[in-house]
Amino acid sequence: MPGKAIIIGATSGIGRSLAVELHNRGYIVGATGRRNQRLKELQDELGDRLYIQTMDVSHTENAIKQLKRITDQMNGLDIIVLNAGISRSGEGTTRKTDLKVVDINIRGFANLTSFCFEQFEKQGHGHLVGISSIASLFGWGRTPVYNASKSFVNTYLQGYRQKANHSDANITITNILPGFVRSEMTENKKNMFWVSSAKKAATQIADAIEAKKDKAYVTKRWRLIAWLIKLIPEKIWNRM
Ligand SMILES: NC(=O)c1ccc[n+]([C@@H]2O[C@H](COP(=O)([O-])OP(=O)(O)OC[C@H]3O[C@@H](n4cnc5c(N)ncnc54)[C@H](OP(=O)(O)O)[C@@H]3O)[C@@H](O)[C@H]2O)c1
Repeated sequence: MPGKAIIIGATSGIGRSLAVELHNRGYIVGATGRRNQRLKELQDELGDRLYIQTMDVSHTENAIKQLKRITDQMNGLDIIVLNAGISRSGEGTTRKTDLKVVDINIRGFANLTSFCFEQFEKQGHGHLVGISSIASLFGWGRTPVYNASKSFVNTYLQGYRQKANHSDANITITNILPGFVRSEMTENKKNMFWVSSAKKAATQIADAIEAKKDKAYVTKRWRLIAWLIKLIPEKIWNRM
């Protein structure tokens, strides 16, 4: 039976499409993000079984309070999808950009992951889903901090999966590695290939959640790129 799922970062792109997809599959859905107007529009579109909560994940203490509030409104939480992320902050200097990405993609992610894991242990069950990226598999000169932040997600969730396996509670940890997906994040990006719509990505993410996968490439053929990347010698990679 579909449960109660909260999506962190559901105002656009993959997160919004996933909110719609899970709602269509019968879940009670909680949607969060900074842009409240977008959340209201989503609520108008979906109606029943859709709860909203404004949240900035980089304000860590507030984010926990806000997560508790929406969980109370929904009367429980079975699945949390940590999707909020940025690739550049648009704040100008590299140092500022790097720190902003760390704040949202790492600090905000760790804050909600550790909190939810504790809650899931207390209630005896739960499913934590993180949205990483194919970019997590390599360093990249144009977006070093973004790729590294997603690499953090992979290792961090692997650790939590091991922790879950030693826990008495029934906790699943799923890591999603999307390739290119059309969204606000990729709006002006050039040289993309195998680009998926956010809707198709959301369908495959929902399937991976329901199959309780440890890890899923989205779309599926990106598994091939993941395999190829590992074959490139570091000396060659450094010069690319
Ligand atoms: N698009 C791709 O090709 C691609 C590929 C691999 C991985 N991903 C990952 O997929 C996830 C979704 O990205 P997307 O492509 O769908 O981009 P997007 O359309 O820009 O969506 C990003 C979402 O994150 C939320 N968000 C950003 N900063 C936030 C903050 N400080 N607090 C709370 N929410 C915040 C945004 O909501 P607000 O702005 O309303 O706060 C929005 O809902 C990201 O983690 C991204 O790294 C994307």
